Amino acid sequence: MDLLCQKLLSQWLLVILWCSIIATIFQHVSVVSLPNNETVPAVIVFGDSIVDTGNNDYITTLVKCNFQPYGRDFGGGNQPTGRFSNGLVPSDIIAAKFGVKKFLPPYLDPNLQLQDLLTGVSFASGGAGFDPLTAELVNVMSLSDQLDMFREYTRKINEAVGRNRTAMIVSKSIYIVCVGSDDIANTYSQLPFRSAEYDIPSYTDLMASEASNFLQKLYGLGARRIGVFGLPVIGCVPSQRTLGGSLNRACLDSSNQAAMLFNSKLSTQMVVLGKKFSDSRLVYLDSYNGLLNMLQNPAKYGFEVTDRGCCGTGNIEVSLLCNRYSIDTCSNSSNYIFWDSYHPTQKAYNVLSSLVLDNKIKDFF
Ligand SMILES: *[C@@H]1O[C@H](CO)[C@@H](O)[C@H](O)[C@H]1NC(C)=O
Ligand SMILES: *[C@@H]1O[C@H](CO)[C@@H](O)[C@H](O)[C@H]1NC(C)=O
Repeated sequence: MDLLCQKLLSQWLLVILWCSIIATIFQHVSVVSLPNNETVPAVIVFGDSIVDTGNNDYITTLVKCNFQPYGRDFGGGNQPTGRFSNGLVPSDIIAAKFGVKKFLPPYLDPNLQLQDLLTGVSFASGGAGFDPLTAELVNVMSLSDQLDMFREYTRKINEAVGRNRTAMIVSKSIYIVCVGSDDIANTYSQLPFRSAEYDIPSYTDLMASEASNFLQKLYGLGARRIGVFGLPVIGCVPSQRTLGGSLNRACLDSSNQAAMLFNSKLSTQMVVLGKKFSDSRLVYLDSYNGLLNMLQNPAKYGFEVTDRGCCGTGNIEVSLLCNRYSIDTCSNSSNYIFWDSYHPTQKAYNVLSSLVLDNKIKDFF
């Protein structure tokens, strides 16, 4: 082979190598294009198990999932990281959508490097709620604990990269808030503490007022581009169907009504705050109708099983109850919307994130 041929061949190999690296990075996630050359330095997440990427691994609580079969399809397979799914969770998927990175690490990971901090972390803690009692009952990090960690985070990056760059990161980053399901599904529906004192209208008032306080504090700390997930159709997750008590495991209507009522209060509060803070972008993300659409039209999105999770019987197993000894765990969850009795599969999270977020991206800028 002459020299020219060799040179062409090696250039081709380089191109193929790069293509496959890029294809691997964005294998599962659609990257959306951002308007007017906008850049997003970091994605920063607050919330509960839907967006916890492993913080609960580092605290003393029973709300954990850093064991198999969690993470069964993560990375190279069988990597339980503390994400409550078989693979990626919305924090990762959203970070990739905004072109920031493929995995959003948990803030409490002791191995984080400066570069990890500069591109964003998750402060979320599985089991948290808007209602401060929700986190307290299961000994996890409340939203106010999560804001304290965010304050510490900004101090750290300030020390490392200085005030100007910190100000840029804080004001230009995308903030995602996803919490509240546990208030309805656990604290209110399963335990006596709140239901003795509140009815659904007054409890959702309490939640909405906590949500508004949280968003005002977050704005006060410099956040400007904030997306807030409404509650999903929480009465239709497998554990709520089981605990709801009807023989045919129908969706628990009272939880769905509560979720819709809360969502309308939340989105109203967000409009009010958006007017008060005119330099902010507050984006309401409707996961209720997104998940409902998937549950009602599973075949459209490539799903078959909608009313039970893959793990164990799928009716009740979640967190510690979903483990390597769970009997009847499905061998391939690709037809399942739910991974355990409460949390969607990676595939369902991918579909849901696209349904909920893709046409809202422009509203962040
Ligand atoms: C920070 O920004 C201000 C105003 O833009 C500028 O005057 C100053 O030189 C910057 N400081 C550093 C350390 O870059
Ligand atoms: C699960 O099934 C899907 C569809 O049949 C297939 O594409 C995928 O490779 C399977 N995954 C595993 C881990 O076997």
